[in-house]
Amino acid sequence: MALGFCIGVALLLSLWSRAETAGIPDGVLRMECHDRYFMIAVDLSFTGDEPHFEAVGETGAYAITQQYAAQCGYSINVHPLPGHVELRASYFSCQTQNKDDEMFTFNFNLNVTQEGKEVTYPLQDKTCSPSVPWSPREVTCETNYMEVSVRSEVTCPIWNKEG
Ligand SMILES: *[C@@H]1O[C@H](CO)[C@@H](O)[C@H](O)[C@H]1NC(C)=O
Repeated sequence: MALGFCIGVALLLSLWSRAETAGIPDGVLRMECHDRYFMIAVDLSFTGDEPHFEAVGETGAYAITQQYAAQCGYSINVHPLPGHVELRASYFSCQTQNKDDEMFTFNFNLNVTQEGKEVTYPLQDKTCSPSVPWSPREVTCETNYMEVSVRSEVTCPIWNKEG
């Protein structure tokens, strides 16, 4: 029966998502929407010294290597003193879903080596709506990349100051 099947699928999905998000202890992970970037901080006591993140988009999961980070608007920095690793993502980073430049949805996986095995933890999607409106042109400098955003509907007058 169709209804029975739907309930079966719903149950399966809910069990599934619970199984997937289980595992990251409370208080280890923080996600914050800032005006110009999205931030994830994870305790090093959980990740170990070499955490690996993946950016998850519509076409799959991409390992955030140094090169990928610089090309795609991500920045990963280890802060041994408060003891966490921080991932910052530009609102215009490659795998971020952008809805009308107003709603941005981020999705990441975190790989952690536990007992010699690599375990993948999907982090919950997070949607941010920055409260500060975008200026026609914005320049962002991160530790590993610089980003220039130009709003496309603004037409720049083309003339030369020097004449
Ligand atoms: C994360 O772990 C999976 C499974 O072991 C692996 O396929 C993937 O390449 C890893 N990603 C990163 C960024 O290390």
